[in-house]
Amino acid sequence: MAKIDFGGVVEEVITSDEFPLSKAKEILKNEKIAVLGYGVQGPGQAMNLRDNGFPVIIGQRKEEPAYWNKAIKDGFEPEKTLFPIEEAVKRGTMILYLLSDAGQMAAWPTVKANLKEGDALYFSHGFSIVYKDQTKVVPPKNVDVILVAPKGSGRSVRANFLDGSGINSSYAVFQDYTGRAKERALALGIAIGSGYLFPTTFEKEVHSDLTGERGVLMGCLAGVMEAQYDLLRRRGHSPSEAFNETVEELTQSLIRLVAENGMDWMYANCSTTAQRGALDWKGKFKEAVSPVFEELYDRVVRGEETRIVLEANSAPDYRERLEKELDEMRNSEMWKAGAAVRALRPENRQK
Ligand SMILES: NC(=O)c1ccc[n+]([C@@H]2O[C@H](COP(=O)([O-])OP(=O)(O)OC[C@H]3O[C@@H](n4cnc5c(N)ncnc54)[C@H](OP(=O)(O)O)[C@@H]3O)[C@@H](O)[C@H]2O)c1
Repeated sequence: MAKIDFGGVVEEVITSDEFPLSKAKEILKNEKIAVLGYGVQGPGQAMNLRDNGFPVIIGQRKEEPAYWNKAIKDGFEPEKTLFPIEEAVKRGTMILYLLSDAGQMAAWPTVKANLKEGDALYFSHGFSIVYKDQTKVVPPKNVDVILVAPKGSGRSVRANFLDGSGINSSYAVFQDYTGRAKERALALGIAIGSGYLFPTTFEKEVHSDLTGERGVLMGCLAGVMEAQYDLLRRRGHSPSEAFNETVEELTQSLIRLVAENGMDWMYANCSTTAQRGALDWKGKFKEAVSPVFEELYDRVVRGEETRIVLEANSAPDYRERLEKELDEMRNSEMWKAGAAVRALRPENRQK
């Protein structure tokens, strides 16, 4: 365990240097790993485990053939490494519960009925456990309940593994029946390809995650981009100019500098005109959005956000409705302008 100073606050993290794959293999040598769900996180974690040399089986319902077939395409074989959910739980000792959060609520009676003493029930989100009043996911006392939450999409879990970089994950123990819950969580965290793991609790994980994705990572990001794009359009700027000044310059240039060396470094490497303006306006924007973030966090803690998610995602026509909403975004002038701008990138023109 390494002690790392995060801006003056010392935290303990586990990296793949002090917790190598060989140690994870030793800890997990008698485990049978069952990954339930083959949506986004399922394939990322399952294929990384398999490529790291861990025998993995998939549990996926067959009635919805899309994900079942996707698992077959990725090399999992029915009756050998691909099973209905119930059968996979029976065969596994570590159950990676990677159905959608609404799916976890729906499938819980089946999963619960097939858990065995000493199994590890693993989540990548604190949602089902923390909001148990809504989800009814209450594990039996005789299993370990652990979490490893990759801080990125399942697609990045896989892509980062393939390019050798790994993704950061948080880990937590909710229930330690065997006395080995923590080492099982850490070993699985390393086995799925985490570059490093930092400790959290189920509660802290779900509160920060729900806030982050509704906030800066996705909701706020899309909202502020639209606000600026619309303003520029209303004031007579062309779509290409409005899009370039709002999205393209951010994703193609500035955010890469932030990723490399931080916001101050990006500021330091812009024009003095841009620096002055950004430093002056940063505070105004922070002040404007702070009350919205307060409201968001309170709603997350009160369980209002999870209630909406469970209601919406459990509806039988959820996927059609989602597709309609995404289609509206895709067909808006702003994101159509985006497609045109992306097609103009030299690397895309050469295709
Ligand atoms: N997406 C991410 O990148 C990400 C990142 C970090 C953590 N997580 C967490 O990882 C977990 C999995 O998320 P995900 O995004 O990978 O989920 P997802 O893509 O939405 O998962 C869909 C999976 O759940 C199954 N499913 C849905 N409803 C079901 C039901 N009623 N009965 C049985 N199976 C059902 C789907 O199979 P069918 O085709 O049969 O419906 C599919 O296998 C969640 O806890 C999530 O919060 C996700």
